[in-house]
Amino acid sequence: MLVLVFDSIRDHYTTRINKKIMSLIDDLKWRYATKKMNGTKVPQEKIDYILEATRLSPSSSGLQPYKVLVISDKALLEKIKDIAWNQNQVIDCSHLLVFVAWDKYTNERVSEVFNYTMDQRGLPHSNMDDYKANILSIYEPLGQEWHAHHASKQSYIAFAMAIAAAAEQKVDTTPMEGFLNEKLDELLQLEGTGYKSTLLLPLGYREDENDWLVNMKKVRTPKEDFITEVSLEDLK
Ligand SMILES: Cc1cc2nc3c(=O)[nH]c(=O)nc-3n(C[C@H](O)[C@H](O)[C@H](O)COP(=O)(O)O)c2cc1C
Repeated sequence: MLVLVFDSIRDHYTTRINKKIMSLIDDLKWRYATKKMNGTKVPQEKIDYILEATRLSPSSSGLQPYKVLVISDKALLEKIKDIAWNQNQVIDCSHLLVFVAWDKYTNERVSEVFNYTMDQRGLPHSNMDDYKANILSIYEPLGQEWHAHHASKQSYIAFAMAIAAAAEQKVDTTPMEGFLNEKLDELLQLEGTGYKSTLLLPLGYREDENDWLVNMKKVRTPKEDFITEVSLEDLK
């Protein structure tokens, strides 16, 4: 009897988990890099949900060396379009997320994040001293270009979270690297803030009838080329 009850509970949860997994895959199949948006506003609760998923992204050492600027001001979006290869999604979107990342790792910045984490956990700041000294000693000699690149890579992970969360909310996105970073930094007055722009993410809704990509087959590397199982035996 007990075994039957256990089996039915397990089946119930397995079905729920499978549904959740399938729904993420379905959402990722639904999404595409939208080429034409229709200007419809995305409700604020959906924007908040996408931003929260973005904030919850993991990052190396938990430093979150990036943040997100949210722009819906049309006059500013017009200016951004000019420096984003004239891509019309920048103005036809509802909100534009601009991902910006640290230009370098410094003792001050790393300490601020770790101290905050320790405060939130009710632990002494000194708990992180060894770890902090270790990463700073590794990062320091690598130079500022490496720092900016590493921080930028972290922002790409959060960017992917935003794209997936938007798809779950049936909100369209266009991932964008196609813009002039230095010009955008200048426009957004990032100089002196310690941040540099890394990515743009227009959020909005597709205009099916004017989007050449909407009905195109989604193409990815075939599974057999993409996934390789490796064991120690294979490496001998
Ligand atoms: C980091 C990154 C940068 C991209 N930059 C642009 C861009 O500037 N403009 C654009 O229309 N699409 C851009 N794309 C979209 C890709 O071309 C698209 O994701 C890819 O072809 C796969 O198609 P899908 O997203 O429709 O499945 C970018 C995608 C990524 C991940």
